[in-house]
Amino acid sequence: MKIMRVESLTYGVEDIETGKRYYEDWGLTPVEQGKNGVDYALPSGQTIKLRNASDPSLPPAIEGGSTVRETVWGVDNAASLDAIGAELAKDQKLERDSEGGIRGKDPVGMTLTFRVAKSHPTEPHAPEKGMNRPFWPVDRVKPLRIGHAVFFTPSSKLKETSEFYTKRLGFRMTESVKQFGDFMRCAGSPDHHNLFLIAVGEKAGFNHVAFELNNFDEIMGGGKFMEGKGWKANTKPGRHIMGSNLFWYFKNPSGGATEYFSDMDVFDDNWQPKYHDKNPGYAHWMMS
Ligand SMILES: [Fe+2]
Repeated sequence: MKIMRVESLTYGVEDIETGKRYYEDWGLTPVEQGKNGVDYALPSGQTIKLRNASDPSLPPAIEGGSTVRETVWGVDNAASLDAIGAELAKDQKLERDSEGGIRGKDPVGMTLTFRVAKSHPTEPHAPEKGMNRPFWPVDRVKPLRIGHAVFFTPSSKLKETSEFYTKRLGFRMTESVKQFGDFMRCAGSPDHHNLFLIAVGEKAGFNHVAFELNNFDEIMGGGKFMEGKGWKANTKPGRHIMGSNLFWYFKNPSGGATEYFSDMDVFDDNWQPKYHDKNPGYAHWMMS
């Protein structure tokens, strides 16, 4: 059973026009628009969907306001999908969605759908320096793929929720910080994390989704473009300690935040999970 990646996120949003403007400024390409909302596709084949919060076909929210209503995980093949279905059916009633996905819930109540990944290999598209090829910075970025999603998980449910993902869905723990959260990667992914469960008191909800760019120039170019359009950054640009990725976060009107990232640490099965009693901290450096 191999889960490969975040395949799609579906938001229920209160102001769809503002939500659309944000994700288009962020660099996503709309592939379908109608009265129900808009779908964006990334070069990787992953998608982001915005729907009206009142759409009765949306799964229930785990928090108030605009937020992610469904997290879709992409798996490697149909046999994996069947294996996940058999595992989850032990203690929950599953549904089939219109695209052949299997839909259940995690212990916090987040709706999870599993589908065979529509995977396209992603190629870096940034201009590179070369002989007779002067560097030309990118002013409009196009995110390559979704790297990870992060959810607030009630402290009292963190252990149960992490074990649901690791023991039942095959996620691997990369780093775990006592009383702070767990960074996990899908069985089919080397990323430091594809899922981070962050525990802040008993809060449940969506925290952020991260989009990979080629390099730091793109993070700066994309972030400056967002600021120029009037969107508010949540942080300054910097480099994280856990995952060591470069980052810049912005507040998303559709719920939580979005992160531009690049250069994240990668791991294979030789890595032993790190358990920290003390939080190693947020960033190696962050601009002031
Ligand atoms: Fe992140």
